[in-house]
Amino acid sequence: MRRIAVLTGGGDTSSLNATLKGVALEAERQGFELLGFVEGWKGLYEGRYVKLRSDMIDERAGGTLLKTSRTDLRKVEDGFERSVENLKKLRVDALIAVGGDDTLTVGAAFAQEFATAFVTKTIDNDVGRNPPQGGKIDFEGMINYFCPGFPTAALKFASFVRDLRTTAYSHERVMVVEAMGRDMGWLALAGACGGADIVVIPEVGLNYERLRELVAEKFKEQRHLIIAVAEGIKDEEGRLLTENPDYIDAFGHAQPGGCSELIARRLKNDLSKELGASNFNHVIPSYLQRCGPPTEIDMRVSMELGRKAVEALKEGKVNHVACAMRRGDEIVAELLPMDEVLERDETGKVIPREVDPRLYDPEAMNATPEGIEYFRPILGDMPRPFEYPKLEIQKI
Ligand code: F6P
Repeated sequence: MRRIAVLTGGGDTSSLNATLKGVALEAERQGFELLGFVEGWKGLYEGRYVKLRSDMIDERAGGTLLKTSRTDLRKVEDGFERSVENLKKLRVDALIAVGGDDTLTVGAAFAQEFATAFVTKTIDNDVGRNPPQGGKIDFEGMINYFCPGFPTAALKFASFVRDLRTTAYSHERVMVVEAMGRDMGWLALAGACGGADIVVIPEVGLNYERLRELVAEKFKEQRHLIIAVAEGIKDEEGRLLTENPDYIDAFGHAQPGGCSELIARRLKNDLSKELGASNFNHVIPSYLQRCGPPTEIDMRVSMELGRKAVEALKEGKVNHVACAMRRGDEIVAELLPMDEVLERDETGKVIPREVDPRLYDPEAMNATPEGIEYFRPILGDMPRPFEYPKLEIQKI
């Protein structure tokens, strides 16, 4: 093997450059030449590439130096044929694809045609497998403990939730904060680590009556409230609460977003009189969750995963995924065959990983103690959720 290539696909994250750096450093160590295709599968198909060296890559910069796209090669004319042809023309021996469920859906099929290894990434944290169900959760049995990019986004979201409490308290607000994550509630669940009073995730259909009950109960106790909701919340019929009617991506995903506004409005309508409260607000941090430099743990693990993917190619382990695994309190990089990492449906589409039911209590609408424990090695020492002392208010 002399020459390998890498590409990044799907939504960007804060730690993609860290993975690229790991790939480049290991490629140089092994004496491989490295090419980078620009804009993911699209760039491979169109034959746009750069010669990539480790000194070009800043692992502390967010986004991806190689840029990205959401391109489904299976839906473009001669998608696979032309891409393989380009790789052969450039005398590339093997490819590393870095991406989320969609990039890996394309990649799993592509790997049948060309030697390819993978590293995951997504702030949605939905690529991997939960440990077997039943009994206590064994975190070491979780395949791909987290997806690169998730730790940074999770820390940001938890911090937004924590910091919002000062204004929520001061103005007696009910604040509904909306997390990204498309169909899954991993990022919203991180809000629990920032002290969210209530967390609503899409894996459990929205039980509005229970939500209303909890909001009334908790607001009466503390006169302010933070509710973390996932953008992909579904109603009881399984329909997205809100979606952009003008946008469907190449993989057929509707663009969620805006459910926090709807929920805040409905709660205001139903509860403002009973609670004597008028401030029902919503906050959508949007891309602020997905930008900026990676956290230390995200950067370190993402780099290790990049290195591991090059090792996979060196050892001829194509169609393998470099996965983050929990070993004690440490997160390490290990190589696993694609089929052990992903579940796919009959069309080959990767089935996203849901929040493990042991991490979330639908009755309390919040993380379980195991849910909080899940985040410990991801977030490190989170500053404690913000709390004011209780005021003994007197009246003349
Ligand atoms: O998949 C990552 C993600 O950030 C989702 O959480 C979100 O729904 C989607 O991408 C947003 O897509 P885009 O980057 O195309 O706006």
